[in-house]
Amino acid sequence: MTLVSKDIQKAAELLNQGELVAIPTETVYGLAGNIFNKEAILKIYKLKQRPLFNPLIVHIKSAFELSNYVSYIPPVSQLLADAFWPGELTMVLKKQEHIPDWVTSGKDTVACRVPNHPLSLELLEYINFPLAAPSANPFGSISPTSVQHVLRYFQSSLKMVLDGGESRKGIESTIIGFEHDKPIIYRLGALSLEDIEKITGPVAIKNKNENTPEAPGMLAKHYSPVTPMHMAINIAEYIKNLPDLKIGVLAFQTRTDSPKIIHQEILSPSGNLHEAAAKLYAALHTLDSLHLDLIITERFPDKSLGKSINDRLGRACTSFD
Ligand code: TXA
Ligand code: MG
Repeated sequence: MTLVSKDIQKAAELLNQGELVAIPTETVYGLAGNIFNKEAILKIYKLKQRPLFNPLIVHIKSAFELSNYVSYIPPVSQLLADAFWPGELTMVLKKQEHIPDWVTSGKDTVACRVPNHPLSLELLEYINFPLAAPSANPFGSISPTSVQHVLRYFQSSLKMVLDGGESRKGIESTIIGFEHDKPIIYRLGALSLEDIEKITGPVAIKNKNENTPEAPGMLAKHYSPVTPMHMAINIAEYIKNLPDLKIGVLAFQTRTDSPKIIHQEILSPSGNLHEAAAKLYAALHTLDSLHLDLIITERFPDKSLGKSINDRLGRACTSFD
């Protein structure tokens, strides 16, 4: 049985023993272990079935701590930390020698973030090491935004989930790296490009599907439900031409009228992209549990968090119009 509790001391005790604990963050739940304990980190890779070339995010307790782990902080990176930490921003920076290779997959950089969740911040205060924590889901599948999602994946193999309720932001952090001190977005996420650019000015995005991705969240097939998923330009039109299938729909604001649709998830009837992002994964988890033949979705507005939602949906879809 997995212990589900808010007991920080118990979580700290397990982490001190080299065990893993799923922790709440404002973005998604993470599968956490002590960065300095090799066995713990290897357990993360094993449990997630994550390729070893795919480095982990290091969660630290405050922006002040950053200088203990990285060897150089570009001026713009300091501005971003001041503006957004604790929060849904991960920064990739040159690492110090003592950050183990098993956390960074041998890279000379480390991805750092101060998560914005009271329980996890309290936990980080309580222990004396940072936590490596990838999203608490098997590699390639939908990230968890609730305790139930974590348990669905890891019920039999995990000692404890620190119960922090539902993730407020609901989509992973935005990842930024620096090349010649210039910020570059490696993964679109819960912090919008617009908010970042208010601090940095225009930033480049390298969020493509490359063969050797900077951030494997960039791999084409990622964040996927088991049920086949299609992105349609017009949901109603697309459904008209389909044979009799059990269909689920994931849409931004409007319901589609069709007897073929068994279940619909409407993410924000009022058209709020932050609300839509917060509900995205829970909706996908629900749709994926209904044994449907097909999930149909649409493109969201290409601005603010709509960009991040489209990125995730694009990777989750098996086909497009
Ligand atoms: O919101 C989040 O970021 C969540 C919560 C738990 O903090 N974590 C998360 O972790 O999404 P994960 O492992 O699913 O995604 C981490 C991403 C991966 O795509 C990984 O490749 C990238 O961060 N990453 C880690 N270290 C890196 C590095 N040194 N250089 C480039 N990318 C790196
Ligand atoms: Mg992930």
